[in-house]
Amino acid sequence: MVVKGRHSRGPSRKSSSSTLIFALLIMFSFLILILLALGILSIPNNSGDSPKPNDLSSIVHNTLDRSDGHDGRGDQWVEVISWEPRAFVYHNFLSKDECEYLINLAKPHMQKSTVVDSATGKSKDSRVRTSSGTFLARGRDKIIQKIEKRLADFTFIPVDHGEGLQILHYEVGQKYESHYDYFLDEFNTQNGGQRIATVLMYLSDVEEGGETVFPAAKGNFSSVPWWNELSECGKGGLSVKPKMGDALLFWSMKPDGTQDPSSLHGGCPVIKGNKWSSTKWMRVNEYKA
Ligand SMILES: *[C@@H]1O[C@H](CO)[C@@H](O)[C@H](O)[C@H]1NC(C)=O
Repeated sequence: MVVKGRHSRGPSRKSSSSTLIFALLIMFSFLILILLALGILSIPNNSGDSPKPNDLSSIVHNTLDRSDGHDGRGDQWVEVISWEPRAFVYHNFLSKDECEYLINLAKPHMQKSTVVDSATGKSKDSRVRTSSGTFLARGRDKIIQKIEKRLADFTFIPVDHGEGLQILHYEVGQKYESHYDYFLDEFNTQNGGQRIATVLMYLSDVEEGGETVFPAAKGNFSSVPWWNELSECGKGGLSVKPKMGDALLFWSMKPDGTQDPSSLHGGCPVIKGNKWSSTKWMRVNEYKA
């Protein structure tokens, strides 16, 4: 009898403790589910900490590796600078040799820069733009073809939508006051239609000043990591410091095809050093060169 009792009690005690553990597990699971539902707990999610569109303090973290070759360009990566305007910096887009090549090609042909007269659509001299410059025809030689192919790959805009490469030189005190790259006249859109995007390539470092500034950009300008290195003019907006080989892409049009007023931009006066840059303007349609 005793033996039988022991035997009959044994399994029932075991099953009651496993039932208890099971019940506790169920309760624990429900507790976790309730906490998740109430938002007290959250599942770690790497994409969840993506920056808000105009949080300029986050831009250093928002990089995309593009390092690919040993063609003298060093590490390449793309930095999202701003979403209003849409602006991106491709670091080490050009090699030092390419920068020097473009400068030397342009040097003998530099002329005082002009701006487009919005009444007549013709070029005119201007005090708002005091640099000198020249155009290098599209597809002019192998090196330029290679650069133009790279520009098309970066912007996703075909080579034949681009105007010729413009090379610009700013000496101390020279600048380009804020303006839009899109046209406000009929004359200039006859070939290729409106300008959709611009790539500014910096062909030299500038010791001080010479920033590209977007005064109408959205966000807190002073939260950019390089704020303390900017000139007074550069602090008047969201600024990009010129660095040899870097390319700044910005869009004059929003994704819906309308003009983007936040693309207003200018070249700050050079304070120390020399600024050489190259501009590629891109059109919505094929541009007959
Ligand atoms: C802008 O950013 C700077 C630097 O991060 C900060 O000190 C300042 O309080 C910010 N301003 C606003 C209005 O958020």
